[in-house]
Formats: sequence, structure tokens, C-alpha cells
Amino acid sequence: MNAVPAMNDPILSVDHLSMKFGGLVAIGDLSFQARRGEITALIGPNGAGKTTVFNCITGFYKPSEGMITLTSRSGKQFLLERLPDFQIPAKAKVARTFQNIRLFSGMTLLENLLVAQHNKLMKASGYTVLGLFGFSGYRKASAESMELAKHWLEKANLIDRADDPAGDLPYGAQRRLEIARAMCTGPELLCLDEPAAGLNPRESLALNELLIDIKATTGTSILLIEHDMSVVMQISDHVVVLEYGRKISDGDPTSVKTDPRVIAAYLGVDDTEVTDVLAEVAEDRVIEKFDGEPDRAHGPSDSASMMAGAVSDTIGHSDEAGETVKVSRGASKAAQYDQRVAALSTAIAAPRGGSADELTRIKGIGPVNERKLHEHGIFHFDQIAAWTQADVEAAEAYLEFDGRIGREDWIGQAKAFAKSGGAA
Ligand SMILES: Nc1ncnc2c1ncn2[C@@H]1O[C@H](COP(=O)(O)OP(=O)(O)OP(=O)(O)O)[C@@H](O)[C@H]1O
Ligand SMILES: [Mg+2]
Repeated sequence: MNAVPAMNDPILSVDHLSMKFGGLVAIGDLSFQARRGEITALIGPNGAGKTTVFNCITGFYKPSEGMITLTSRSGKQFLLERLPDFQIPAKAKVARTFQNIRLFSGMTLLENLLVAQHNKLMKASGYTVLGLFGFSGYRKASAESMELAKHWLEKANLIDRADDPAGDLPYGAQRRLEIARAMCTGPELLCLDEPAAGLNPRESLALNELLIDIKATTGTSILLIEHDMSVVMQISDHVVVLEYGRKISDGDPTSVKTDPRVIAAYLGVDDTEVTDVLAEVAEDRVIEKFDGEPDRAHGPSDSASMMAGAVSDTIGHSDEAGETVKVSRGASKAAQYDQRVAALSTAIAAPRGGSADELTRIKGIGPVNERKLHEHGIFHFDQIAAWTQADVEAAEAYLEFDGRIGREDWIGQAKAFAKSGGAA
């Protein structure tokens, strides 16, 4: 019925996608395409809705409106928003990694990659114990799984550590292991949520090499959420830019990089310039106010799971340079919202002297998060400087920040600004 798609035909088509949480429009009427065999980057400031797009594609959220169509190699089309979430990896062959690393930290690297192939092995066993012990079909599948696991450990440059527990790996290596694990499931579309976040330059380079290798040798299409513009510019074929859940730019990396709307929204011009640039491009947008609790009707379903969906708690680790990198607790979005009960201990009702500090001077705080901090009673550098660990966790849950406050050292930055009276 459907013609077999050629390379560069769309593998993923997102049409008029909207996702609302109560009064907050996290994604508003978003349409874009990812082409087969390409690396498509989804970029945008914090809170722009990137992870929400992934959650809709991978069945964690049921979109409020819109269609998400995946066209497989055979030409068969899947409407992902209608497919039960467990069928998205199995049938539509979509794999993902998470903004928070999710590995079985106590299992070895090899075991992590074998567990990912569990479905294939169970099928080969005919779902019987006899099948496990007797049939050559299972033995063959089992040998193939082992080969595939070794293949991806080699590709990810992790074969030497195959028998070590995953939790002992440096941060960047854990990121590569997650990708290797997703690749063991033979995906047609690989969705990576900020794989380069928190990596040092060497780790970042190793990641780029792995992604380029996947693209070149397997033809797997990659959808990549990324903050690091150098990664985006180096490896992506196509870039889609979101701001406040709406698409503001779509094209090849060079055209996106020079698009004034992107410069204003993403590449860090200051607030007054943003207004100027936006006036220039006559862009108007609606920022609807977040009115509290997540909308459970569209929230993650209890059965939501992905092929690579092993959930471990926080993995504490140090990177290859010996620095400690903290990753916040790997809870689901809904659970993170539940943790938000704690008020920030340094909150005040209104800015002192009627005017707030320019919190966006802290690297990592954009206009959206500044607004959220204000809603939470944080207006001054010294308030952030005095945060306790509990405050950081509460703020991360509130901002959906997944460990970034620690990694970007907001407290250190805030202390410096508080001391210098806001000077750089
Ligand atoms: N389950 C939820 N309930 C309520 N609001 C949510 C939920 N998930 C996301 N949001 C809100 O939707 C908006 C988009 O969030 P999302 O996590 O998709 O942004 P992002 O672009 O991935 O940001 P970041 O770069 O910080 O990861 C944010 O305002 C966020 O607070
Ligand atoms: Mg995100």
C-alpha cells in the first residue's frame, strides 16, 4: 500500500502537535519533520518544550492535539499518538535516552545491553522454559544478542569495561552506554535528550564521533535535543528551534544560526536586545501562565516504559577528569512535581526595593526560568547564593532542571554576582 521510503524522505512527521498542562501550553501547534538517515536537532531555551515533544513521540504523554507519524523502512506508517506506549519501541522502532541517565547501575555494561534485548530473546524462547534450554532458535538469538552487545560496546569505546558495573563508569561513558543500549534494540529512530549535557570537551567529542558513526554505518535517523550549539552545528543536518512551545525556526544549521529570532531567543542576547530583535521580526507570541499542578489526564501513564526504560535512582559519579558531577534523582516528571511541596527556604513575597536582580546573568537561567523563580519568591542573587541542598532539589523539580543547577553552579555564580552587586 505504502511505497518504500527513500533516504531523506521524512521518517517522522509531527503535525499540529499541542500539549497542555492545565493552563500552560507546553507545546502549541508544532509541526516539523525529521528525515530518514539524518540527524535532526531540536533546540531551544530551557522550558521551551523539547522534552515534552520527546515524551509525546515516545508515548509517555498523550498529546492534547495533533498527529505524529512514523514511516518505517518498509513503508508502513504508525500514528504514534495512537499506539500504546509499549508498542512504540517494539513496533515503530523508536528508542530514546533520557535527560537523566537511566541505567541499571549495579549491572555490568554487558548485562545492561543484554537486558535491552530481552524482548527479542523471550520471543525466540517461544515464552517457554523448554525454549530457553532446548531450542536452537533461542541459542542462536542468544548468541546474536551477545554479538550485538559486544559490537555496540566496541563502537562506544567501552569494550574494555564490559564486566564493570555501569554505575562505576565516568559520566560521559555512561551517556555512551545508554546510546549503545538503545542501539541494541535496532531502532529506526533514535531520540536523545541532551546527551552532551554535563560532558567535558573530550567526552563531548567522543559522543559526537559515536553519533556520526551511528548515522554513517546504520542509517538510523537521530532526533537530538541539545543545548550545546557547537555539538548542534557540528553534527546535525537539520535544526528545529522551539521557544515557548512554538517553532521559531527550521532549516539547515547555518540558516538557523543566523536567524534573528534564534539569536534573540537562544543564543544569549540580553533582554533589551531580545525585545528589539523581536520587534524587528514582528514576532508575537503568547506565554500562557503556568497555573499549578500538572494535568494528570495527559501526564505520563503508569505503564509508560521504553525499551531502554530501566529506572535507576541518581547515579553519582565522577567524570574522566575526576570532577564530581551530580545528577538529580531519576524520578518521573510527575514524581518530580510531587516533590515540589517544599517551598524554597529563601523565598520572599516581593523583590526588595521593588526591583529584582537580573537573574538571567547566571548562566543557565533564561527568561522562562527567571519568571518561574519570581513566581517562587526568588528575585535576588543572594537568595540563590544561600540555597541549601533541599532548596536546589526543590528548585530543580520546579524548573524541571534535572541536576543542572549543580552542574552549572548557580550558587557559585549567584555568590559572585551578590558580592559584586550584580557586576559581571
Ligand atoms: N508533567 C508536567 N506537568 C506540568 N508541566 C510540565 C510537565 N512537563 C513539562 N511541563 C512544563 O512544560 C514546559 C516545557 O517543559 P520541557 O521539560 O518540555 O522543556 P525543555 O525544553 O525540555 O527544557 P530543558 O531545556 O530545561 O530540559 C515547562 O514549562 C515545564 O515546566
Ligand atoms: Mg528537557
